[in-house]
Amino acid sequence: MSELESLLRRLPAFPEPLPVLRDEDLPDSPHELFLDWLHAAIDNGSRQPHAMTMLTSRPDGTPVGRTLILKDIDDAGYHFSTHRSSRKGIEIAANPRVSFVFFWRESGRQVRVTGDAIALSEEVSQLDWSGRPSYAGEPNPDWQRYALRPDEFEFMQARLDRNHTRIEYRRDGGAWTHARVTTPAG
Ligand SMILES: Cc1cc2nc3c(=O)[nH]c(=O)nc-3n(C[C@H](O)[C@H](O)[C@H](O)COP(=O)(O)O)c2cc1C
Repeated sequence: MSELESLLRRLPAFPEPLPVLRDEDLPDSPHELFLDWLHAAIDNGSRQPHAMTMLTSRPDGTPVGRTLILKDIDDAGYHFSTHRSSRKGIEIAANPRVSFVFFWRESGRQVRVTGDAIALSEEVSQLDWSGRPSYAGEPNPDWQRYALRPDEFEFMQARLDRNHTRIEYRRDGGAWTHARVTTPAG
């Protein structure tokens, strides 16, 4: 084993005790569970709990991720913003399917949110732009606020025995169904 591998193997995993995700506690709506976990991450002092990895795809199918900030959640979806002319902006224009991956290490929780990214109005985008610390009084026609409209969630609660609990929610029309994911999980 290389020195690096042995160093990596010795790194501590999650703090104890970890929360437990029980079937009987699962809400019908994934938004309720997401908000519960987000608020828990804010309350337990997690650094940038609203930061996540957003994944898009290149035209050849190559997946690409980068860190973004979640701005809000409403009926339109999970808001984020960026430059329309950025690589991700161009990728979204060609293929609006995107995923977010949140990882809250303090509680061993991961959530993947998948759906279509929808461009919100110019008014909403400019309001967002004007709220940025770098705002210098001028609108930015390249700035775009989007909402990811989810059709799929996967919630993962880590367990110290590595038998992680995973629950998938799927949108079927207007209703959500959920089930345990039983494929191997690390
Ligand atoms: C903590 C953190 C938060 C970030 N938030 C945003 C964001 O909300 N919007 C954004 O456009 N870029 C954000 N970035 C920068 C992106 O990760 C990325 O480097 C940049 O947007 C260019 O991505 P692209 O070339 O894939 O389009 C953030 C980076 C970090 C580390």
